Amino acid sequence: MVESKRVVPGLRQSFRAGPPSAPGPPAAGPVPPLRVKELRERLAGAGSICVLTGSGISSESGLPTFRGAGGLWRTHRARELASPEGFARDPRLVWSWYNERRAAHASAQPNAGHIALAQLEAACGDFTLVTQNVDSLHLRAGSKNLVELHGNLREARCTKCAARRSLADGLPLEAIEHECGGRFRPDIVWFGESLPPAAWDTAVAAARRADVMLVIGTSGLVNPAAMLSTHFCRDETFVIEINPEETAISPRANLALRGRAAEILPQLVL
Ligand code: OAD
Repeated sequence: MVESKRVVPGLRQSFRAGPPSAPGPPAAGPVPPLRVKELRERLAGAGSICVLTGSGISSESGLPTFRGAGGLWRTHRARELASPEGFARDPRLVWSWYNERRAAHASAQPNAGHIALAQLEAACGDFTLVTQNVDSLHLRAGSKNLVELHGNLREARCTKCAARRSLADGLPLEAIEHECGGRFRPDIVWFGESLPPAAWDTAVAAARRADVMLVIGTSGLVNPAAMLSTHFCRDETFVIEINPEETAISPRANLALRGRAAEILPQLVL
């Protein structure tokens, strides 16, 4: 994956839910009623909706993001824990970390934002939720047409053969080596690896079809996921960003709602 951003000229209009330079924590109040009405109408009138989520949507479930304060990549070395080279060097370290993360995911609960997206899907015809998250919270919230672009932590797969095993109880460190000579690894995408082609194709097709695209809780710093909203959707796609902060995607957003996903999304459910 390459970390980069692209600014799409001409589509830079951005609105805030609160005052532009409000002091203290990011604005998290209700979206103004008129804006809610306008957004619901836009969602109801959309023939096709695509959603891209990142770790920010799970922060109100108690899971850390990657790059913000307390983010995983602030305190852990991504290359050691999330790359094929790191895994080859120290598979036990890598599995200890992913076992901990999987356990944290299992004890977290989907929040109001995850649930609102599942409800929105139920109310819409053509709706695709593309997530970069591997925490399974969208699945547990009831989302159906879900593309897990970076994989998931429900299963491990062998590096050499087609063997897979459930991670319902994590992977015991003594079970890392597989009898074929390969090793079990998390079924997720690491730095330097390609995305699963079928997942990527589905995500690109959904982005191309989208009349409205919601981009929620992602810094937009990881490609190709971020490119769904900057390169792959059409010029006329209406992009709505939900994030307390400006991101690399903000310049493309037609509307930016500056607040927390779990507070804003329930207001948009049709
Ligand atoms: P980042 O940590 O880069 O960005 C998280 C974003 O969530 C930031 O823009 C925050 O402002 C925003 N955020 C925080 N709390 C929020 C809230 N309550 N509501 C809405 N937004 C909130 O995480 P990602 O963009 O998810 O890849 O990172 C993308 C990928 O980088 C991850 O999938 C992961 C990582 O390396 C892999 O592990 C393969």
